[in-house]
Amino acid sequence: MNEPILRSIRGGAHAPVRHDSAVGHLTGRALYIDDLPVVPGTLHAALVLSPHPHARISRIDLARALASPGVVAAIVANDIPGKNDIGPIRPDEPLLPREVVEYEGQPVVAVAADTLDNAREAAKLVAIDYEILPAVLSLSEAVARELYVSPVQTMKRGDVDAELARAPHRLSGEFACGGQDHFYLEGQVALAVPGEGTDMAVYSSTQHPTEVQHGVAHLLGLPFNMVTVEVRRMGGGFGGKESQATLIAGIAAVLARKAGRPVKLRLPRDDDMRATGKRHPFLFRYDIGFDGDGRILGLDLMLAANGGNVADHTPAVVTRALCHADNCYWLPSLRFTGLPCKTNTVSNTAFRGYGGPQGMFAIETILDIVARHLGLPLEELRRRNFYGIGRNDVTPYSMKVEDNILTHVTDELEQSVDLAGWREEISAFNRTSPVIKKGLATLPIKFGISFNRPALNQAGALVSVYTDGSVTLNHGGTEMGQGLFIKVAQVVAEAFQVDLENIRVSATTTGKVPNTSPTAASCGSDLNGMAALNAAQEIKGRMTDIAAKHFDVPPNDILFAANRIYAGNRSVSFSELALLCWDQRVSLSATGYYRTPKINWDPKTNTGRPFYYFVYGAAASEVAIDTLTGEMRVLRAELLQDCGKSLNPALDLGQIEGAFVQGMGWLTTEELWWDESGRLKTHGPSTYKIPGSRDVPPRFNVRLLSDAPNKEATVFRSKAVGEPPLMLAISVWLAVRDAIASLADYKLSPVLDAPTTPERILSAIDDILSRAAH
Ligand code: MTE
Ligand code: MOS
Repeated sequence: MNEPILRSIRGGAHAPVRHDSAVGHLTGRALYIDDLPVVPGTLHAALVLSPHPHARISRIDLARALASPGVVAAIVANDIPGKNDIGPIRPDEPLLPREVVEYEGQPVVAVAADTLDNAREAAKLVAIDYEILPAVLSLSEAVARELYVSPVQTMKRGDVDAELARAPHRLSGEFACGGQDHFYLEGQVALAVPGEGTDMAVYSSTQHPTEVQHGVAHLLGLPFNMVTVEVRRMGGGFGGKESQATLIAGIAAVLARKAGRPVKLRLPRDDDMRATGKRHPFLFRYDIGFDGDGRILGLDLMLAANGGNVADHTPAVVTRALCHADNCYWLPSLRFTGLPCKTNTVSNTAFRGYGGPQGMFAIETILDIVARHLGLPLEELRRRNFYGIGRNDVTPYSMKVEDNILTHVTDELEQSVDLAGWREEISAFNRTSPVIKKGLATLPIKFGISFNRPALNQAGALVSVYTDGSVTLNHGGTEMGQGLFIKVAQVVAEAFQVDLENIRVSATTTGKVPNTSPTAASCGSDLNGMAALNAAQEIKGRMTDIAAKHFDVPPNDILFAANRIYAGNRSVSFSELALLCWDQRVSLSATGYYRTPKINWDPKTNTGRPFYYFVYGAAASEVAIDTLTGEMRVLRAELLQDCGKSLNPALDLGQIEGAFVQGMGWLTTEELWWDESGRLKTHGPSTYKIPGSRDVPPRFNVRLLSDAPNKEATVFRSKAVGEPPLMLAISVWLAVRDAIASLADYKLSPVLDAPTTPERILSAIDDILSRAAH
């Protein structure tokens, strides 16, 4: 028979193609906001930041600044024509403070001048008098004084007090983890361009163009349709460009309105670190009851987040922390209390994992303490408490774990790395090494995918086929280096059965796809991939009808394959069919839409099915510490990550490696340090240590779990990957603890907080040695 020879397309779903901007990133040709050509007359802005964590503004004198060379405009709170609020969840966040500054680094005044140098010089001439107010700078003080940015949240099951009282073993204590600066390579930036009438176009390095649109519209007192926000790509966001971008874009837009000219605001790194929010530091207090076999009977856990001075994302970050404080374990009785604390520090915000890492950090640290108390291997203790299949499978928030592959993932990792042999090697090393001590630890993860708030789990796309067969794809997701654009393009290439080169992804703009969600919660490809698929299928349906007419066959006989459209052994090219459609007056453009099925959430009781599915993973890490200097190195990391049926294994590998190293930084070297008067002292790369290339473990093996299609009908059965592997780095934290515990024959638990800086490691060593001596 004359069967056509079907080749496959280049770069469809699951193809390990490289990032669409890989070459652009390397050569510098990829355009960021700061690279966009500006029209003549564009002004540059600079900010005046508060030097005090809490103070009343008694006087602002702009006279000298306004008289300074090149200055065109300056703004304070009163210059905001609309509503002075940019709070993403609660309306408590002024763009510029009216009377009181609430953190050191808070922007108070913004100045626009003809050049960046002139703007920065003028900013120095703004005179502000402050009346200093008492500041709350520590999280423990906020906990003690019950100072919150939003209501306390709880999650409960059973009678935890009674279970704790009855439990054969009971331990309690306190520990903490630090925050983290996003340290995106591209700092926050916005270019606001006033248009005809009251129109305002804003180019913003934002993960959430719609939120910037809303923020700017509120500030300028405009309907949303007067503000258009566009972003082609960001040089990293990591959660730091969700709400925080509105601060920058809002100031640029208000200045642009006042000056009647375009204004660009790009923060110097030090100002960026002082003025914009970070990962939430957490303080934990626990009381856990368990039996002699290590089965957990009850856990009473306080998770206090340092929200900073306003709510921002804190309520939702706390919810996500509560939703991940179970990690992989079934807890028969529990009380999780989430405290969204208020302090006079920069407002903390979304950061890769969004509270999930802190929740997991808590339970994993507690289990480590329990395991040492009982003298049980941590892996064994965990297994005894894993969610079951068909039993003991309901989370603290009442969702059933239906896709549990915990045992499979952890067994596969432990066997592939010969965990027992590896552990023996480490103990042998430690027996003969007096100064350098090694530690080894594993970690399983279960991370929920979907925004807790159901409304955010929707997406739109706009796909257009041109008459030459080229395709333009637009969706609500933003590109920040994670590879979302190419993944969604692969989905569309697969749907049309055309080579990936035919698909062009245009910049994200609120003018093409409205009412979008942030690109966050790792759902970018799940949501936008499905919306784009929906649009492509709509067009494909119309094209199929025209092809069927053309070949005079039923539509079912039409096949899209390898850049051609077949009816038996007759065929036309994709571009020929596109032209035929136009000729027959058939639209080649369609919007697509997707909403995640099956999810629901009741924020009052913190129950429901917030997640469409879970992502699993496992890691093992080896570290060495120098017991004389407190220095630490990660020597080896072995990761196994569940990506479902990966949309792009090459990009997923990069996401896993990057997330793990970023997580390592959070838990080991990245220390945010404020002085006693509330000033952030670690506001640049010289004092704030993110992992460098030489901190990457010399032995670093990452594998994607094989044959693991998503049980749920996600886009081509893939799973989200952006955030979950960050939490695998908790294995590094546990390995440091293990190395310290080796000094007390593994019998005592170190008293340690994260990040594990040399100072903290040394003091934990002193402490454990003195306890071991007694
Ligand atoms: N990868 C890179 N290179 N740069 C980033 O800024 N952000 C992370 C993750 N991976 C980020 C990244 C965060 S916080 C999230 S939520 C996801 O990407 C968002 O993108 P996705 O939903 O498309 O995975
Ligand atoms: Mo990621 S913290 O959800 O932007």
